[in-house]
Amino acid sequence: MNKKELVSLVKNMTIDEKIGQLQQLTGNFYTDSEAEITGPLNESGLTTEMVANAGSVLGLSGAEELIGIQRDYLESSRLKIPLLFMADIIHGYRTIFPIPLGLASSWDPILMKETAEVAAKESALSGLHVTFSPMVDLVRDPRWGRVMESTGEDPLLNRQFAKAAVEGYQGEDLRNDLNRIAACVKHFAAYGAPEGGREYNTVDMSERMLRDMYLPSYKAAIDAGSKLVMTAFNTVDSIPATANKKLNRDILRDEFGFDGVLISDWAAIKEVIAHGVAGNDKEAAKLALEAGVDIEMMTFCYQHFLKDLLAEDLVSIDLVDEAVLRILELKEDLGLFENPYRGANAEAEERWVFSQEHQDVAERAAKESIVLLKNNQQALPISETEKLALIGPFVDNGEILGTWSWKGNPKETETIKTIFEQEPKKIEASYVPMADVNNLTKEELNGAINVAQKADKLVLLLGENFMMSGEASSRTNLQLPQAQLDLIAALAELNKPMILVLFNGRPLELTAIEPQFEAIIEAWFPGTKGAKALHDILFGKVNPSGRLTMSFPRNVGQVPIYYNHFNTGRPIDYDDLENKYVSKYLDVANTPLYPFGYGLSYSNCSYGTLASTKETYRMSEKIEINLDVTNNGNRAAKETVQLYTRDIVGQVVRPVKELKGYHKIDLAPNETKKISFTLDSNDLAYVHSDLTLTTDSGEFEIMVGPNSEEVQTILIHLTK
Ligand code: GLC
Repeated sequence: MNKKELVSLVKNMTIDEKIGQLQQLTGNFYTDSEAEITGPLNESGLTTEMVANAGSVLGLSGAEELIGIQRDYLESSRLKIPLLFMADIIHGYRTIFPIPLGLASSWDPILMKETAEVAAKESALSGLHVTFSPMVDLVRDPRWGRVMESTGEDPLLNRQFAKAAVEGYQGEDLRNDLNRIAACVKHFAAYGAPEGGREYNTVDMSERMLRDMYLPSYKAAIDAGSKLVMTAFNTVDSIPATANKKLNRDILRDEFGFDGVLISDWAAIKEVIAHGVAGNDKEAAKLALEAGVDIEMMTFCYQHFLKDLLAEDLVSIDLVDEAVLRILELKEDLGLFENPYRGANAEAEERWVFSQEHQDVAERAAKESIVLLKNNQQALPISETEKLALIGPFVDNGEILGTWSWKGNPKETETIKTIFEQEPKKIEASYVPMADVNNLTKEELNGAINVAQKADKLVLLLGENFMMSGEASSRTNLQLPQAQLDLIAALAELNKPMILVLFNGRPLELTAIEPQFEAIIEAWFPGTKGAKALHDILFGKVNPSGRLTMSFPRNVGQVPIYYNHFNTGRPIDYDDLENKYVSKYLDVANTPLYPFGYGLSYSNCSYGTLASTKETYRMSEKIEINLDVTNNGNRAAKETVQLYTRDIVGQVVRPVKELKGYHKIDLAPNETKKISFTLDSNDLAYVHSDLTLTTDSGEFEIMVGPNSEEVQTILIHLTK
């Protein structure tokens, strides 16, 4: 249907049918099978007619089931407007990829796009139309559990990953490519900056900071064509995002040009009351509709009060009609009026969901996401002659999928033990699993000590339970659980070389235990093929190449800690640490334990002298930077060469460094490559105090290195 036909369809709808389209319900309103519940369940008070009129469903999948629901729904639909099926496909449908904070450590947006394509295909064949992904909230605080769902602390990487994810989900022709689903970028806006890292807490920042650091990733997703945006639970400038007209109409729709569907987060419309900006459901409905929210997820303010608001002339029917039209346009963009069953196909679902081809992508993604944080005395890779003791809660545990892995099944996920035992060469290894990340039994401790005494090397597989990160999972203590600290202390007494492998959804505080280990690997929650990927890295079949996209603090007292911080008026002078009156702590350094961009490999790459083709550039000229990078090792390596800049004197304070480019390169043993970066003045633009995005002339530091701390620096001048 064209727009004109859709407009006339809206005109033909009754007010109940219109309001129904604005309602989203969980699947258990339509079936007895298990729908995914991802928020508080409020009393609905819905009539059967209201349920029959609802325009979309979340948290259900399965080709046959959704075909059946759609068929029944259309039979009772007067105007034959099809249902939309949406779900949280965050990093894979049933083939699960590393959590986004892990996948981001690949520094490979093309890989992100590939994983999104696979997730879209599995979801579409299973009957889904929309995923509530990508989450693009910039994060700086690992106390917040949802950092696992983000791609980290840097605006450039977040923009690139946001774009890649939307392109992967939606493809080039969403209507006709039945292996694609619509993307829903979230959470608009700045949900990643809750005070204290406490879930659902207040977000408060200047509009300049919001625009400079936080909004670019949402805009990148919208520019890539994301069909939906989801509102955030938090306040923006002291107004709940879901009721924030300036945010959702002036910025999102008018300035960003977003003309798709704005959906509330779960219960976020009703929660405007708890925020203290609406007195009741009716006021909440009015504010949300005026703020341009089209779909209400799992609360019922629109359903129960829009008719009264219209009857009392407190809202205009035009606002309802525009919301309904956007929803119908989305259904049209998905081709649902012509083919309400779209990609749902039980046979193809059987063939492709969790297929070997998809698992191969998951294995590659896991290998690229794992970060080597420490490797003293070449403790890694492990040689196959060494007798190993593998100890800890992740020895034989398939729960390495992360908390947003709905259809992922730990029971069908290979564990470290199964992989080690499958591998062709029989590695001499003993295993001591721990049943619970938070509890070390006497038997487990004794078993661990006994096995460790007979081993050459101890591999401790430790971390968080997958439910300790993700939504509603903030922590004030970022250390490993005490039971695991006790295990480490006991095994350290044996003076055997120990290797730590971490499974976790956030940067942890490792300072106290780091000295006990010869090597440390950050595996995140690596997904379906995480065990195989880890095995291949441990034994050197794969040279680790992951780089952190979020800083690891020395202790939680430093948080929020991030690389692109301001200098302050009294910056610390590392050549004069005795100087008291500078910005520092009495008890810990300012720097993170592991910085943004950091990661090791089994090779060692050296960087030649950084050079710029000129010292002074005009604004209109391209800035050309280059240097040689050499792989001095005897293994092929992937090296991520990073370029940072610093605007020495800005119109407002500027970060001490900002990532402006990177190249992830393959280097054969002893190979040298000349690496070039080209920047233009737009790359150096930032939001000024008048909220314009412009570039200053003046001096800039250009920094290049293997991470955000080990950099070479040169100066260039930019003139008008
Ligand atoms: C949750 C999350 C959101 C998710 C939605 C639907 O509360 O905040 O990210 O997409 O509800 O499950």
